[in-house]
Amino acid sequence: EKPQKRQGNAATVWAAIRDEAMACTRCPLYRDATQTVFGEGPLDAALFFIGEQPGDQEDVAGRPFVGPAGQLFDAALAEAGVDRSRAYVTNAVKHFKFVRQGKRRLHQSPDAGEIQACRWWLGQEIDLIRPRVIVALGASAARAMLGKAVTISRTRGSAIGLESGAEGWVTVHPSYLLRLPDEAKRAEERARFVQELRMIGARVK
Ligand code: URA
Repeated sequence: EKPQKRQGNAATVWAAIRDEAMACTRCPLYRDATQTVFGEGPLDAALFFIGEQPGDQEDVAGRPFVGPAGQLFDAALAEAGVDRSRAYVTNAVKHFKFVRQGKRRLHQSPDAGEIQACRWWLGQEIDLIRPRVIVALGASAARAMLGKAVTISRTRGSAIGLESGAEGWVTVHPSYLLRLPDEAKRAEERARFVQELRMIGARVK
């Protein structure tokens, strides 16, 4: 199954894809989520980030990376000298997957089938924007970018040629840094993440 050919300028085409994604029922996650959280950013962005899926706050706001992981991501990008406003930021899976625990909604990782179903939208975002560099944040994003499961530790640090012609990079997800219990380890891993973002940012300068 291939997406239909679309007429119009990039903004028109992007809005048409997003509007379709808003009504997506390709996997069951639309049932419990508040809304589809589509990607955002300039349609001529050279740099393209893929997260995992919207979290609790993103589900409500309708925008990617605005909650705690997003704040860490913003701070790391700023330290790395990468301008988020010039990048396109999206997620592998566009609906929030969670279980309820009392009043709280606890994040659950998307499974391979959900990631595969949602590649329908990610592929169209990549085809429209044609970024030079795509960065997968964490294992779900890496699976979406590469179409197969990989290990972050074995995949990070070197460029991967992608079918789209873009250069792919895999790194950790900001939430991984938030979850590290040991403060020294957290600082070390955060610094490594910032260094990687700086190096990747330089690829599009
Ligand atoms: N984590 C993600 O992977 N994406 C978001 O948009 C927010 C948190």
